[in-house]
Amino acid sequence: MTFQLRHETPDDIAAIEAVTTAAFADAPHTSHTEQFFVRALRAAHELPLSIVAEDDGQVVGHVALSPVTITDAQGQKADGWYGLGPISVLPPRQGQGIGSRLMEQALSELRAIRAAGCVLLGDPAYYARFGFQAHAGLQLPGVPPGYFMALALHGPVPEGIAHYSDAFNAAA
Ligand SMILES: CC(C)(COP(=O)(O)OP(=O)(O)OC[C@H]1O[C@@H](n2cnc3c(N)ncnc32)[C@H](O)[C@@H]1OP(=O)(O)O)[C@@H](O)C(=O)NCCC(=O)NCCS
Repeated sequence: MTFQLRHETPDDIAAIEAVTTAAFADAPHTSHTEQFFVRALRAAHELPLSIVAEDDGQVVGHVALSPVTITDAQGQKADGWYGLGPISVLPPRQGQGIGSRLMEQALSELRAIRAAGCVLLGDPAYYARFGFQAHAGLQLPGVPPGYFMALALHGPVPEGIAHYSDAFNAAA
């Protein structure tokens, strides 16, 4: 396995969109609009981390990180939380460890900027291995319990309601 990880450059934008589209084409629980989320996050300057996996000049995987607001019942907001996703690996390259390396790199970079923590929406069977857990007091509206998970990097997991960027409503 010879792929390398690096931050996106403007030359990667079309390839990231293609990888995201292909990865989610047959995935369950998807709107098939994930490629538009990445584009909208970038346009809104809400894509502080965008990491690609490249193999022999081809983008084969990608992960996006964006700021997330968590607001408690008193209206207090928790600082320094990020949402991970979408994360995508080209279907023929899935199951080769690329997704795991993207996850580890994303978390390592969040630690480096002293992020408070990271949330994501996905299959607990996959993300538990990176330390993510569902927390009863932290919710994303409209999501079944268990699928919205958090990993604290500094301090505790806050209680409250999470809100992702409006870019996650992008449909074109
Ligand atoms: C999820 C994804 C990024 C993982 O990348 P990957 O390179 O295939 O993952 P890795 O090779 O590092 O890990 C493979 C392991 O994860 C498991 N796995 C992959 N996707 C999974 C999922 N959705 N649910 C449960 N387990 C999953 C595999 O069974 C495998 O398990 P093993 O290590 O016990 O054999 C990739 O499969 C993908 O792009 N899927 C489609 C898009 C998607 O669903 N993204 C996540 C939602 S935001």
